[in-house]
Amino acid sequence: MPVYIVLLGAPGAGKGTQAAAICEHLDLPHISSGNIFRENINNRTDLGKTAKSFLDSGDLAPDNITIAMIRERLSREDCSRGAVLDGFPRTPTQALALDEILSEFQGKVDVVPFIEVEENLLIARLTGRWTCRAKGHIFHEINNPPQEPGICDFDGSELFQREDDEAETVAKRIRVYLEQTKPLIDFFDDKGLLKVIEGSQPIRQVTAELLSILPKVS
Ligand code: AP5
Ligand code: MG
Repeated sequence: MPVYIVLLGAPGAGKGTQAAAICEHLDLPHISSGNIFRENINNRTDLGKTAKSFLDSGDLAPDNITIAMIRERLSREDCSRGAVLDGFPRTPTQALALDEILSEFQGKVDVVPFIEVEENLLIARLTGRWTCRAKGHIFHEINNPPQEPGICDFDGSELFQREDDEAETVAKRIRVYLEQTKPLIDFFDDKGLLKVIEGSQPIRQVTAELLSILPKVS
């Protein structure tokens, strides 16, 4: 049976950072809706052209295009043992659609780690984030600095600051999260799937706590 892990958390909670660590550990693909949107924007696809204004303003992209994009990604061969979802679902409509999509692959959401971080830490995390141009490796100028400023430790590519990490857009993204995504905490808790992870700890400790609650993947 495939294993599907859904990482829940506010912008800057550490979903991308932790998804990379647990995917390496469990040898599962990392499916980040934000990364897929950004790739499409960079490649100027039709999907990217539709999504751009939403990402730029800090709003959510429409459910229908987001759901279709994730359905397509999950149908690929590399997801046959499951996947780690980062940033999807983000609305109740997306959560219901995910159940439907996974049932097509004889799967279900197995566990939903909620990376809980105090709101006042989020802004400093996002405004200090540097992301690698080639593969999206994530750094922070204070909490997790690269060995050489501006250069990715893993592939030597350029590091850049995401346009939506500017303070005003960050504040908007946090508001959107509180209004539209936070209700999913109760949604998954009611299903008995939620596991609260203390996300204000250092990165390695969060990873260790996550690995201790994740299912085995065969
Ligand atoms: P997306 O790319 O998903 O952004 P997000 O949810 O706002 O989350 P972030 O990527 O900002 O934060 P993260 O939790 O991954 O934190 P990270 O690990 O990088 O979405 C972007 C946009 O795409 C949305 O606004 C929307 O427009 C659109 N979109 C995406 N999905 C969608 C969907 N499902 N529906 C509709 N629209 C959608 O860490 C942040 C920083 O903190 C880094 O610098 C890191 O080094 C540092 N850090 C991480 N962990 C720690 C720690 N434990 N201690 C100290 N520092 C840490
Ligand atoms: Mg992310």
